[in-house]
Amino acid sequence: MKSSSIIHFPSSIQTLRVGVFDSGLGGLTVVRSILNVLQGASLFYIADTKHAPYGEKSSEEILRYSLQITDYFIHVHQIDALVIACNTATSAAVESIRARYPDLIVIGTEPGIKPAITQTKSGKVGVLATPATLQGAKYQQLVDTHAKAAKITLYEQACPGLVSQIEEGKTEHPETKKMLEQWLVPMRNAGVDTIVLGCTHYPLVSHLIEKIMERRLTLIHTGDAIAKQLLRLAETKGHRNKGDVTLSLYTTGSIDADQVRAALSLESNFSSITL
Ligand code: DGL
Repeated sequence: MKSSSIIHFPSSIQTLRVGVFDSGLGGLTVVRSILNVLQGASLFYIADTKHAPYGEKSSEEILRYSLQITDYFIHVHQIDALVIACNTATSAAVESIRARYPDLIVIGTEPGIKPAITQTKSGKVGVLATPATLQGAKYQQLVDTHAKAAKITLYEQACPGLVSQIEEGKTEHPETKKMLEQWLVPMRNAGVDTIVLGCTHYPLVSHLIEKIMERRLTLIHTGDAIAKQLLRLAETKGHRNKGDVTLSLYTTGSIDADQVRAALSLESNFSSITL
């Protein structure tokens, strides 16, 4: 198995070991937020492109992939913390991962319904997510806890095919624009002013979403909140936020290198692993 530290942020001690995973490029939008706040850490990122898209798979399959990756992180990289940088995998696997590794810091990703409620002015909130996320019990609990009490109207839209377009580097492709138009025009007509990006891939097409909505729009992406939570929980376990950060990138299949660079806004390469 190949391993390489690709990106090095200068300074001194490296302590915290953090595994981050997603089905592909999407979790890099979370890594970007983590790199803004975390120091003194080694980050390991897995893009499970061999099994992407997760959002169109059964919850049993997503759980199996998520456990395989977590086991790999634990046994090969001895991680102290795991960030599930994927709404779909969080929905299917976070509880099982916490039960299997009770001492591990585990941070999941959930659609930002709560921040959307505090920020909407029209009371009309769009939610874009994968089919699996919207069908999951976790999403329903989120809605029941937050949106119902606040009397917000939610416009929920599953976006099958969108993750594959992004993975294929088609973020400017007419087909991608057409897909988004078909989902967003009804939201635009209904007066939606806030959209929850309930999949970590979707920030990579936020420019298209803003253009189609043709109005001042609040897009909710939870990367920064996840990064802060990681730092907070790590500090409670003695992490001193000082020193080098290294990021090692792995993929189980193929990945578009230009999209990796764009997602991270950095020079980077992936190593391959077999899972
Ligand atoms: N990026 C992921 C998410 O946040 C999963 C996308 C997929 O593989 O379908 O849901």
